[in-house]
Amino acid sequence: MTTAILSALAEEQQGLLDLLRRPQRVTRAGREFWHGELHGQPVVLALSRIGKVAAATTTTTLIEAFGAQRLVFTGVAGGVGPGVQVGDVVVATEFVQHDMDASPLFPRYQIPLYDRERFACDAPLSAMLLGASRAGLSRLNGQFDSKSVLGERSVHQGLIASGDRFVSAAAEARALHAALSDAGHPPLAVEMEGAAVAQVCHDYGIPFAAVRTISDRADDTAHVDFPQFVRDVASRYALAIIDEFVRGLSTSGRR
Ligand code: ADE
Repeated sequence: MTTAILSALAEEQQGLLDLLRRPQRVTRAGREFWHGELHGQPVVLALSRIGKVAAATTTTTLIEAFGAQRLVFTGVAGGVGPGVQVGDVVVATEFVQHDMDASPLFPRYQIPLYDRERFACDAPLSAMLLGASRAGLSRLNGQFDSKSVLGERSVHQGLIASGDRFVSAAAEARALHAALSDAGHPPLAVEMEGAAVAQVCHDYGIPFAAVRTISDRADDTAHVDFPQFVRDVASRYALAIIDEFVRGLSTSGRR
């Protein structure tokens, strides 16, 4: 069974490329895909690209052209839920699009013609990813000194909101969280691709799980924190988590 590993950022993918056995690069839809083996598992690696449409094209290509039968997605996100801090990790249970608004034709946040606001992640795959996240973080514990800078890291599980917008103002982050909460969708974090990937995986019936490292609080300093955090922290988290996850696929017999 081919597992697609989608990375939001090149820095996250590099560590996986270094581990990939029998790597083969293929270009499709103007994108680079790498297939090969990780810990004996057939995998295909791709960068999602940024924003919902780009991520949907990448996901569709992974499924249609590379036969991906399950998909796991890593990236970074802005923490908007209470207690979701920089350096924490969020494993998604569901996704909502915070910029979907076809009202008054359809209720706010509802995806037209799907009769729903949220797309759920696959529960068994997400449980594996949660375990891999905890194992990956404890493996990194002590390997570098981010813990002293960032404090104690938590692994959360819950709803993530996606939209075509880098949220970088505290007032906007508060308003976005309040509006979604009032509609019954309180998000833990905000990013720019996950809901699109979840929707495509739903369309194809492909199990999907996602994890995001919190790089900022979607506030006025979000853009300042971002590049250094990606380089120093998020890339190492993603590698440790996916390494644990793929090892788990091998040992659980989920081939
Ligand atoms: N990804 C990481 N931080 C983000 C933010 N503040 N807004 C949207 N996407 C993000």
